[in-house]
Amino acid sequence: MPAIAVIGAQWGDEGKGRVVDLLAEKAHMVVRFSGGNNAGHTVINQHGEFRLHLVPAGIFRPQATCIIGNGVVIDPAVLFEEIEELQKSGVDTQRLFISDRAHLIMPYHILLDGLEEDSKGSKAIGTTRRGVGPAFVDKIARLGIRTGDLLDKEAFRQRLAFVLERKNAILTKIYGIQPLSLKEIHESYCNYGERMAPYIQQTEFLVREALEVDKLVLLEGAQGSLLDPDFGTYPYVTSSSPLAGGACLGLGITPMQIRHIIGVFKAYTTRVGSGPMPTEMDKETAHVIREKAREYGATTGRPRRCGWFDSTVGRLSVLVNGFTSVALTRMDVLDILPSIKVCTSYRLEGKTLQQPPSNSSTLGKCEPLYEELPGWQSPTGHIRRFRDLPLEARRYVRKIEELLGCQVDLITVGPKRNEMISVRSFL
Ligand code: GDP
Ligand code: IMO
Ligand code: MG
Repeated sequence: MPAIAVIGAQWGDEGKGRVVDLLAEKAHMVVRFSGGNNAGHTVINQHGEFRLHLVPAGIFRPQATCIIGNGVVIDPAVLFEEIEELQKSGVDTQRLFISDRAHLIMPYHILLDGLEEDSKGSKAIGTTRRGVGPAFVDKIARLGIRTGDLLDKEAFRQRLAFVLERKNAILTKIYGIQPLSLKEIHESYCNYGERMAPYIQQTEFLVREALEVDKLVLLEGAQGSLLDPDFGTYPYVTSSSPLAGGACLGLGITPMQIRHIIGVFKAYTTRVGSGPMPTEMDKETAHVIREKAREYGATTGRPRRCGWFDSTVGRLSVLVNGFTSVALTRMDVLDILPSIKVCTSYRLEGKTLQQPPSNSSTLGKCEPLYEELPGWQSPTGHIRRFRDLPLEARRYVRKIEELLGCQVDLITVGPKRNEMISVRSFL
């Protein structure tokens, strides 16, 4: 069995963590390939409730090797906090490996993320302020520092001195704040390097070995396709590609090695941060959903904006990822609604659009066209077979399949592992 990708299909927080925790039962390897600790993946299982930011959600499955690939940026402080929390809960973390090519989030990245956001005022992106964007900027600007660099302390000191000189110039001359100390950063990151050393590997070879002998490798996406720097709602996007294609670059595998691509869609829509969201609900309905579903960010605690299911942006997500399956999460959240709207297309200047415009300000002007479906108004959390869902709920699922042009193979009806309906097995 080759690689199977689990990809966020909307603006993040679709429930990727819980889907990966579920599918990892049969996985030999679970890998993260993009983003950083801007991600917050909630997993609830017999070990407790976890919000994973860097460690793959396969860590709870004793047979699964977990890998943080080269495409991820790592804040070592967050990584070790997470590892310690897992160990305290009795989870074995010795099966975790980190790519020696993964870039590090440095203290100046976190500072700059906040300073840049503050300086943008009302035009701020609403980033998670974890330094993820500035770390990817440095990767591309060839000013990054990688986990493998920490293993040679003197070479690392020289590299850091070179980079920090440039960062301190920005901090002092543009933002008028104190420069950062080379000695302090060098010391603390050498300490992280010593702790990280047992985890650091050339992970592309580990992944290749697993794929060569046909082991199941789960690719755990982070963020969502509509936050992709190319196909998302630019500039209100993240800074690495959450798309299935991003897994090839973020791990060193080939496109031909990915057999299935599962698009994880929430049964409605949420978004954290700024940027257009055509199907955003009125305040009262959004409030009902947010409080019922506890729609608050797993990383920053910010309230999530809530909206109706949007198949217009959904179809773009299907197109740019090539989903072979849809996993539809949080169906139970809709149990209370008397009727449910689904956006089928947009209207813009008298024209009907089946695909969203690429420009964020134009997207912001699009009027969503809805089809309104009757709600089922009965609990679904206990249901485990598709045919046992209320008729209206089945119709809702069929409508989404029709609008996306992709089959729904998994439905989740609660946050716990077993609270799901397997419509068709794809493993
Ligand atoms: P991720 O970033 O894609 O992994 O998603 P998050 O963990 O940020 O957000 C998903 C939220 O939905 C978490 O609080 C999950 O516990 C919760 N969740 C996942 N699936 C379901 C479901 O089927 N029903 C309900 N009620 N909650 C769910
Ligand atoms: P998971 O993996 C939801 C959003 C931020 C902001 C934009 C840029 O849990 O689905 P960044 O810090 O990446 O520079 O912020 O992207 N964002 C997410 N929203 N879920 C995430 O991850 C996100 N990661 C980043 O809110 O709008
Ligand atoms: Mg999340």
